[in-house]
Amino acid sequence: MTARIIRGTEISPIIREEIDKETKSLKLQHGITPGLVTIIVGQNPASVSYVTAKQKAAKDLGFYSLQEDVPEEVTEEALLELIAQYNDDTAIHGILVQLPLPKHINETKVLYAIDPDKDVDGFHPVNVGRLMIGEAKFYPCTPYGIQQMLVRSGVTIDGAEVVVVGRSNIVGKPIAMMLIQKAEGANATVTICHTGTKDLAAHTRKADILIVAAGKPKAITADMVKEGAVVIDVGVNRIGMTPEGKAKLCGDVDFDAIKEKASAITPVPGGVGPMTITMLMLNTLRAAQFTVGKR
Ligand code: GUN
Repeated sequence: MTARIIRGTEISPIIREEIDKETKSLKLQHGITPGLVTIIVGQNPASVSYVTAKQKAAKDLGFYSLQEDVPEEVTEEALLELIAQYNDDTAIHGILVQLPLPKHINETKVLYAIDPDKDVDGFHPVNVGRLMIGEAKFYPCTPYGIQQMLVRSGVTIDGAEVVVVGRSNIVGKPIAMMLIQKAEGANATVTICHTGTKDLAAHTRKADILIVAAGKPKAITADMVKEGAVVIDVGVNRIGMTPEGKAKLCGDVDFDAIKEKASAITPVPGGVGPMTITMLMLNTLRAAQFTVGKR
């Protein structure tokens, strides 16, 4: 079997078109432009490239967008003050603090400081709790993108055996929580594997849908995948530079071998990555719509 390639580069423009229409209608009917501020502490190259892409997407959609470049040495207190300022700014509907933060800053404290109604990343404990009880206001962007890729490519999630490799707060835990909900585009049986899992392959081989966010190249090889499985690769590993000076990327799965066994697979780059940014735009639009009770 040669797998169908599920590309975020193809699905995400369709969702951006939908966002664009709703944005124009929100402006026309309520005079509201979705506003997003991205805050980056220091100049970690990966974080800079993510935030630049988020800013570009916001501008392309006609959002009001601001970028705060904060020096690495900023105090926790000053960062919390900056967040408080945007919590009070009515032109800003979404606040995103790019992670990871420098070691001297308490990440949990920073995430708690963001107004949950402006938490377009969905990382505030209130939003994490809402997700758990099936009352989510914002879905974290990468899990939301994964779910949309599955739904929009016609993959049946209802009743599927889903195996998630990785238990991060950004991907592994929230995607598992989303897919177990008794809801459309969910209702799966989900197993979460992690570095403490004894026999990883025994679990991954049972998966109808295998979602890998392990942070390790070739963590999943072809012998670990069931014939006909759907494989979603969330990994973004930098493995050098292209001759043009761009970062060379690979995912967490052995793409070339697994594409001969799976029924569908996402590539890296061009798979989950473009979806994450698009879902951030959708969350920002939703945050703006909430202010006028449109959703
Ligand atoms: N770092 C890696 N992924 C993310 C993300 O989705 N949001 C934020 N804020 N930081 C990240």
